[in-house]
Amino acid sequence: MAIEFSPCTTQDIPDIMQLEPVLFNQPFTQEEYEFEIEINPLAHYYKFTNNDELIGYAGIQCIEEDAHLMTIGIKESYQNQGLGKILLRQLIEIAKTQGCKRMILEVATTNYPAYHLYTSLGFKKTRRRIGYYGDQDGDEMILEWS
Ligand SMILES: CC(C)(COP(=O)(O)OP(=O)(O)OC[C@H]1O[C@@H](n2cnc3c(N)ncnc32)[C@H](O)[C@@H]1OP(=O)(O)O)[C@@H](O)C(=O)NCCC(=O)NCCS
Repeated sequence: MAIEFSPCTTQDIPDIMQLEPVLFNQPFTQEEYEFEIEINPLAHYYKFTNNDELIGYAGIQCIEEDAHLMTIGIKESYQNQGLGKILLRQLIEIAKTQGCKRMILEVATTNYPAYHLYTSLGFKKTRRRIGYYGDQDGDEMILEWS
């Protein structure tokens, strides 16, 4: 494998749109990704590629001292091999360079792989958000580094 980490660009959006409905129950739209990647100055989206194949992506919005994790996904055939953890660690480092002091996210209470990923990096549950995902509850989690 020749895995590379780099910023997402407009050219990645078609590949993201292929993975998005496979990975997420409530996928973001193409317009939302176009806004995030091409326009939003607060947004920072990065990807993993393996020989030009998109195998993972994640994005944050840095709003003053808070970095909001907007999405993180690893292609199914590459999951549970440590890539999600590496990708999220990289995003935490990018949030630090943007002056953020914490990262905030929401996760479905039933999403065991994601929950495990976040707790293994030190995220702590701050509150339950009933019905956050429609028929499922979400937990807000925070990782603070200063
Ligand atoms: C959540 C997700 C990004 C994790 O990526 P990943 O590359 O599979 O995760 P990693 O391999 O880095 O694993 C991180 C930790 O979670 C554990 N884990 C990951 N997938 C697991 C699974 N299916 N079952 C049990 N444990 C799992 C790993 O063992 C690891 O634990 P450790 O650090 O204690 O060893 C990935 O499962 C995914 O894309 N899911 C679909 C999209 C999604 O739900 N995103 C999150 C929205 S909040």
